Amino acid sequence: MIKKGIVLAGGKGTRMSPLTKAVNKQLLPIYDKPLIFYPLSILMLAKIKDILIIVNKGQLNQYKRILPNGKNLGIKISYLEQDKPRGLPDAFVIGEKFIGKSSVAMILGDNFFYGQNLTSQLLNNTKLKKGAKVVLHKVQKPESFGIAKINKKKRILTIKEKPKKFLSDLAITGLYFFDNNVVEYAKKLKPSKRGEVEIVDLLNFYKQKNQLTADIIGRGGAWLDTGSIEDFYKTSAFVSAIENRQGFKIACLEEIALNNKWISKKIIKASIKFYGNCDYSKYLSKLI
Ligand code: DAU
Repeated sequence: MIKKGIVLAGGKGTRMSPLTKAVNKQLLPIYDKPLIFYPLSILMLAKIKDILIIVNKGQLNQYKRILPNGKNLGIKISYLEQDKPRGLPDAFVIGEKFIGKSSVAMILGDNFFYGQNLTSQLLNNTKLKKGAKVVLHKVQKPESFGIAKINKKKRILTIKEKPKKFLSDLAITGLYFFDNNVVEYAKKLKPSKRGEVEIVDLLNFYKQKNQLTADIIGRGGAWLDTGSIEDFYKTSAFVSAIENRQGFKIACLEEIALNNKWISKKIIKASIKFYGNCDYSKYLSKLI
């Protein structure tokens, strides 16, 4: 079982400037909570309790104000800084000590997932013993994402980062599961033409060894990328629509922790005090 997870929450957020000049993108709101709550909730739903959040140099204090150490969620949160956006695989070089001899899941700080079967899919993916696993989802604009071409047996034939020529419409989402070799492979990577180490190059190490598998989120599930301002507002509208219709919150971290039996009602009371008089607190009150 994969027990460790990384949220990669650095990046300059250039596409969202000036919003991201003073505040990191992952701390901006998706409807009623900071963006980072959503990817963090995914790791928690996968029953991962030991979590490393990688943030931009100089922005650690912003994050610690809202997610100090995880105790209030029954998890362990540690932080490390990335001095500049060297690329996604850099997370495994920065996180080498944290990973140790374990296998590890990684989620990008700006990725949003939602859907009925999600939790069971996540739990299934954490069973990974050897190799790497990516999570795919159909998109309309494949040129904007890492893309995978698969065969009928769901075996990956080709992967490519933002292909200009049509290859397939299955995007590689920002949720990955790796065995411990990821650290060694990440260290071997050389920057691409755009000056970053590339996640597809890392995945290709596994593919060459026939150790790359895929899980697919079907049309009943949602994967939204919050890369641009437009996407940000669309994701916010999605969360607002679901939450206001059902009365359930998406990515309420305390609710997940309580359901997982990681925290007591007493701890939730302390969180209510911490958040203060707001809708989120009212929701927490209803839970207990
Ligand atoms: O969202 C899924 C896509 O994410 C995948 O389909 C692509 O294969 C993958 O390369 C990535 O593409 P993006 O163009 O969205 O990556 P971006 O550079 O925007 O970074 C994604 C997140 O990771 C963002 O929240 C910032 C953070 N990040 C990124 C880099 C390169 C870091 O914290 N450090 C980094 O060095």
